[in-house]
Amino acid sequence: MIERKRSHAAVITRSGPIDELFAAAARRPELVSFAAGAPDPALLPVESIAGLAAAALDRHGRAALQYGLTGGLPALQELSRKLLSERGIDCATGDIHIATGASGALHNICLATLDRGDVVLVETPTHGPAVTLFRSHGATVIGVECDESGVLPEALDDAIRRHLPAFVYLMPTFHNPTGRTMSAERRARTAEVIRRHRMLAIEDDVYVELRYRGAEVPALTSFVPEFCAYLTSLSKCVAPALRIGITTMPQPLLRDVLVLKQGIDMQTSSLTQALAAEFLGGPERAAHRQRLVEHYAAKLDRLAGALGEHLGPDFRWTVPDGGLFVWVEGPPDFDAGAVLPAALDHGVAYLPGSHFYADGGADRGNTLRLSFSAVPIGDIDRGVAALARVCRP
Ligand SMILES: Cc1ncc(COP(=O)(O)O)c(C=O)c1O
Repeated sequence: MIERKRSHAAVITRSGPIDELFAAAARRPELVSFAAGAPDPALLPVESIAGLAAAALDRHGRAALQYGLTGGLPALQELSRKLLSERGIDCATGDIHIATGASGALHNICLATLDRGDVVLVETPTHGPAVTLFRSHGATVIGVECDESGVLPEALDDAIRRHLPAFVYLMPTFHNPTGRTMSAERRARTAEVIRRHRMLAIEDDVYVELRYRGAEVPALTSFVPEFCAYLTSLSKCVAPALRIGITTMPQPLLRDVLVLKQGIDMQTSSLTQALAAEFLGGPERAAHRQRLVEHYAAKLDRLAGALGEHLGPDFRWTVPDGGLFVWVEGPPDFDAGAVLPAALDHGVAYLPGSHFYADGGADRGNTLRLSFSAVPIGDIDRGVAALARVCRP
């Protein structure tokens, strides 16, 4: 075994419950896994992608297999600009960057903004892998209090004053893990705090296309574009394997991000960018979105019904307007992490809520996240019945 130095990032980052649960699910096909936030495999558009790849090669020829501009394929940047304007974000094509997934964009923004010892503010709870990422860049991650409408503007104001963070990371629409959406009024008040402090806010918006009910709300970025980096991607609404992230951010930050990206992966794949441009510009986008929305809405209804039937009055859960997650809260003495092994024995998997807290969530052990997207609809009832057996022994 060679002796090697390990980086700060490697030392502080351990493989987490997600890796173990994915491994367990792969070994046991009968397991009903509410753990992963992945698209339903049945909805991955295999035939369309084959056609789009052929069309992309036809249109772009060898350029689709060549190195391209770090900012992105101009045709896809232009289509992305139109997509963002549907969400209330007006920017120039040159302000759009095609990243390697929303996670790639987040990593590059961290490189451009974080030094060891900096503070990052996140929602409570928040996307677990983002916390790991921020920490791997040397940041201290601090959670800000939220309610069912999202982050509390007064708490955000107070946290910015006290901690002088490098940035604030928010998921205003179909939040992971709670599913909640920030109201337009709350967005306006949050934007006011961001503007007053001249603070960089990162809006992570990868679930926005998956709305099952309720009216659309303009992106938080549309309220304060001069202080926001907006991230979205095609992972949840087309296929994660494309690794297409779409972002816009203030030009000075974008310039740093692009220079740093050259040293990371040069650019996002020309081939999948060309393919994504065929999808966004073609006729299939609307029909595919409709299919996803109908399919996931039916699963969410089935899950909500099963929870009502099996879980009982001492448990509460969210029924979101969109996205892929239901957040469950048990009585104070319930410990979702402690009962997970028994749940796996009973044939059901989920992610314990403590995984989603910047402070480790020691006092939120009574929460868990259910992701309904990849579970076959006919298995949802069986999974929830198994969950209820271990939650209410
Ligand atoms: C909130 C959030 N952001 C980003 C990602 C990753 O997106 P991408 O596949 O575009 O990197 C996920 C994936 O689960 C997510 O939940």
